[in-house]
Amino acid sequence: MSTELQETVLKLTSLKPLVKGGVDSTGAQFLPESTKARFDKYGVDYSNGYPVAPDTSEIPVFVDEVLKVRNKEVPYIERGKNADPEKKALFGAAKEVIHLTKHIGTEIVGLQLSDLTDQQRDELALLIAERVVVYFRDQDLSPQKQLEIGQYFGPVEVHPQGGRVPLEHGGVHVIWMDQAKRKGFLKTSFKKTGGTAHWHTDLTHEFQPPGITHLHNDAIPNVGGDTVWVSGYAAFDKLSPAFQKFLEGKKAVYKSLHGYIDRENPLSGPKNIEREHPIIRTHPATGWKSLFVNRAYTTRIVGLEPRESDLILEYLFGVFEKNLDIQVRFNWKPTKAGLGTSALWDNRISQHYAIWDHEGEEPRHGTRVSSLAEVPYFDPGSKSQREALGLSLD
Ligand code: SIN
Repeated sequence: MSTELQETVLKLTSLKPLVKGGVDSTGAQFLPESTKARFDKYGVDYSNGYPVAPDTSEIPVFVDEVLKVRNKEVPYIERGKNADPEKKALFGAAKEVIHLTKHIGTEIVGLQLSDLTDQQRDELALLIAERVVVYFRDQDLSPQKQLEIGQYFGPVEVHPQGGRVPLEHGGVHVIWMDQAKRKGFLKTSFKKTGGTAHWHTDLTHEFQPPGITHLHNDAIPNVGGDTVWVSGYAAFDKLSPAFQKFLEGKKAVYKSLHGYIDRENPLSGPKNIEREHPIIRTHPATGWKSLFVNRAYTTRIVGLEPRESDLILEYLFGVFEKNLDIQVRFNWKPTKAGLGTSALWDNRISQHYAIWDHEGEEPRHGTRVSSLAEVPYFDPGSKSQREALGLSLD
């Protein structure tokens, strides 16, 4: 592209950016009381606006710019790998450990996440890798501590444009559909799902997509606002051996949520970031195979004709979405007023869906920290979860 055209495009995009960055100057007035109390207690200053995002001028405009944000392998330690398989330090300190369904979801009672030792954190990482999602109610957790826990699990993702808590580190993201709706960014309604109210896995277009994501909800509706998770291990185990073999070693394309401008074809409209990853991946801590596709962001299977790819992906999405026995639905309500609830899930082996039944009538607000994990890989020698646990494969 000529320099002249490039400059014209830049001018056009700065006149009408794809995304408006900066501080939300009206947001703080809508902050739920419980969120304000948490922020006040831990010295989070929201007086200059909330949430904050990079200034519009700092948000990448072109696809190639945003691709450079994280395009090289960064070191990653799998914390669950060397943890005590019996998790004695974690379970020994808990009042109760409740498995919410057979295949997915465990609640730990009587522990504060902020007090965990490194040994307990490692055991928690392994528990998340095995149970897919782990919950802690009644948490007194500062956003700063949430960030520190996330940094222990891996390099914390900072989104190039997403709304975040005003802290020096930009990795504490705000999950506040009510405000996004109020601002008109989100069209989600009773009739129309969107935002986080659809099946998805976070940030699968990343070079090293997140492993553990930690959402701490500090404002929770009295009724509703649940989230559902589904297991990728179990989705893999639902497939026939012949179909499993067909998928193993294949790759798919994963797109980003946000669009950017293609420098080579600037007038063709916003284009998503795309990366390829294995459809079946191996979890480094458990060594189990997982089906790694999701309706929101997996667009095609590499090497297949478009109609073949569409047909197969539609079937695979359905395996996650229709099999209730491999899902867990969680209601976030704490048992003690003034405290929040945390969910820590592994994006490598799951999808989730935040249910919008409260329709923003009661506040729901959370802070989310995503720890990036390994470059996804498939180990042909790895086993499925049921195979490894000696369960029936029928
Ligand atoms: C998310 O999709 O990351 C948020 C889920 C939720 O709000 O429950």
